[in-house]
Amino acid sequence: MQRENWASRLGFMLAAMGSAVGLGNIWRFSYVAGENGGGAFLILYILSVLVIGIPLLLVEVSIGRKAQRDIVGSYKKLAPKQPWFMVGYVGVASAFLILSFYSVVAGWALYYWWGYVTGVMTVMPENGFGGSFDAFISQDYAPLFWHALFMGITMLIVLVGVKKGIELANKILMPILALMMVALAIYSITLPGAADGLAFLFKPDWSVLDDPSVYIAALGQAFFSLSLGVGTMMTYGSYLTKQHQLPGATVGIGVMDTLFAIISGIVIFPAVFAFDIDPSSGPPLVFITLPEIFYQMNFGDIVGLVFFTALSLAAISSSISLLEVPVAYLMRAAKMSRKLASLIVGIVIFASGVTVSLGMGKWSDLTLIGDRNILDSMDFLSSNIFLPIGGLTMAVFVGWYFTKQEALEASDLTNNQISQIWYVLVKFIAPILIIIIFLNSLGIV
Ligand code: ALA
Repeated sequence: MQRENWASRLGFMLAAMGSAVGLGNIWRFSYVAGENGGGAFLILYILSVLVIGIPLLLVEVSIGRKAQRDIVGSYKKLAPKQPWFMVGYVGVASAFLILSFYSVVAGWALYYWWGYVTGVMTVMPENGFGGSFDAFISQDYAPLFWHALFMGITMLIVLVGVKKGIELANKILMPILALMMVALAIYSITLPGAADGLAFLFKPDWSVLDDPSVYIAALGQAFFSLSLGVGTMMTYGSYLTKQHQLPGATVGIGVMDTLFAIISGIVIFPAVFAFDIDPSSGPPLVFITLPEIFYQMNFGDIVGLVFFTALSLAAISSSISLLEVPVAYLMRAAKMSRKLASLIVGIVIFASGVTVSLGMGKWSDLTLIGDRNILDSMDFLSSNIFLPIGGLTMAVFVGWYFTKQEALEASDLTNNQISQIWYVLVKFIAPILIIIIFLNSLGIV
């Protein structure tokens, strides 16, 4: 079967940005930053992106482009008869786990979007926005309907294919979301009490760094947000041809993604403080603060509608990239058609997401990893453990299995100073840092 390709480099860039920018920048970034003390976390996160994330983004895309295969197939092709491909399965498992909860949370965003369409969200609920959100997510069936709808849309786009489905959808979505976020940030900093929120985000309280879990949280957030280590960038890279230059594209993706997160912090935290919400409220954080903002502001009904449209669409451009990982794998390994692979994987992930959704309600006492509920456990396992393992392996693969010449060539780098820095980061610094952060979180370092 002929493999598909992107129509243009811009198409790839937008799709990769679409993959990176999603709920991770807005929903996940704000609550993880809120739980981990704000400013000091932000600095660790930015450092993780610069020193580990962006260099490895280039590594991941270049492996995919060189091999022209899915994540498991890429390792098998480039390192035949060696165990590297096992890590490909970790990537497939991560995509599966992430999408299981991602689709549930994106379902909440869709529900809010519908709330703005119908006007339900534009009046203050009796129990406040926090109370009504809790009441919604703890129901048995309603959140499942939205989860099913979201997964259905994701499956539909993926089964249509790379060019027509994924590429076109992203070209329209990304610019709208960017404009919305900037406008909201400007509004948010005019709220009374905004200064406290900005101080929380930008004035580091270094004492939080005594807690080893902050480092792994920052690393996990960098991986999650860049869609790194899971195989999405490798799979998207595999639809590129050699004529496209990679370094500029990957730096652009990394910088854009990080800017989105910082801007969303500027939207959320002033509002968190203005409305007296606890920044460490966890996953519900944006679903409580944003409706509060929209409720207070002029034309908030319309802004809310556009915002949740953009957020839902950003979530879709990320979820299609996650679904593409197992779909591309099955298409090659099991010789399945794109349609069948998308349907099977989509349905299985939907079923797994049902447990996540019930875990917010009737199964909320069920804890899996530590005292985490089902959503948090899946997130912790995938973002903080599997993705860094995926990234570590990619770095070691290109740094140590490839010759230096092969590594530079695969990434379109010539032997200049920037390439040398990149190579040292990939070969030594990123792997060592990831290992230290792991050992630190286990209490060993
Ligand atoms: N990178 C995607 C996001 O941030 C998964 O939402």
